[in-house]
Amino acid sequence: MHDRESAFQHTRRHFVRTLPALGTAAVLASAPLFGQKKQEKEEEEVSTNEDLMREHGILKRVLLAYDEIIRRIHGNKDFPPQAVTDGGNIIRKFIEEYHEKLEEDHLFPRFRKAGKLVSLVDTLLKQHQAGRRVTERVLATASSLKTQDDRDRLVNDLEAFVRMYAPHEAREDTVLFPELHKIVSPHEYDALGEQFENIERTTFGGDGFDIYVDKVAALEKQLGIYDLNQFTPK
Ligand SMILES: [Fe+2]
Ligand SMILES: [Fe+2]
Repeated sequence: MHDRESAFQHTRRHFVRTLPALGTAAVLASAPLFGQKKQEKEEEEVSTNEDLMREHGILKRVLLAYDEIIRRIHGNKDFPPQAVTDGGNIIRKFIEEYHEKLEEDHLFPRFRKAGKLVSLVDTLLKQHQAGRRVTERVLATASSLKTQDDRDRLVNDLEAFVRMYAPHEAREDTVLFPELHKIVSPHEYDALGEQFENIERTTFGGDGFDIYVDKVAALEKQLGIYDLNQFTPK
């Protein structure tokens, strides 16, 4: 049922996109289909890998925010504790409970079944689990950040997190995701993208990516690292 539904939506979306070329007769012939989801015609189509990789972009931006906090702690400078909480919550809600869950529920089992990149998948899964433990500690420390000892513990956890996730996401982008094309059919690949979009809407009540791009931009503004111009060498 679910597969049929997603195949239907897929067809519908392609139909909407090609509509101008088809003419009035085609529109009338397919009127019920068209009217049903008319409001979605503006919705962009995002492929499975593009979806996962732009989610990595959000992860990367939190890692850069963590880097800034690490720099301030080492330089004995102040930082807003709220930035740690906000960063940790973006990681927990968007990365750990959503993005990684997509990988664990929909990608990793397919790789295991195909017998491809199995040891990489084992490592990636262990890293998700370790990352969740670190985030748990980061959020707990951030809520009671008083002593130098707290700052030391926080900086250790943030450094461990960045050290693990920068290579983790880069390996997924360059090795795991490209291999996906080789283990699923083009149809299954497209259907997976549709399924991800549906899960995203159900999880976040809208476009989770857009919501979290705004949240990560707000985090960067809190830390004064939003304006890209500051990073251009003179
Ligand atoms: Fe991952
Ligand atoms: Fe990932």
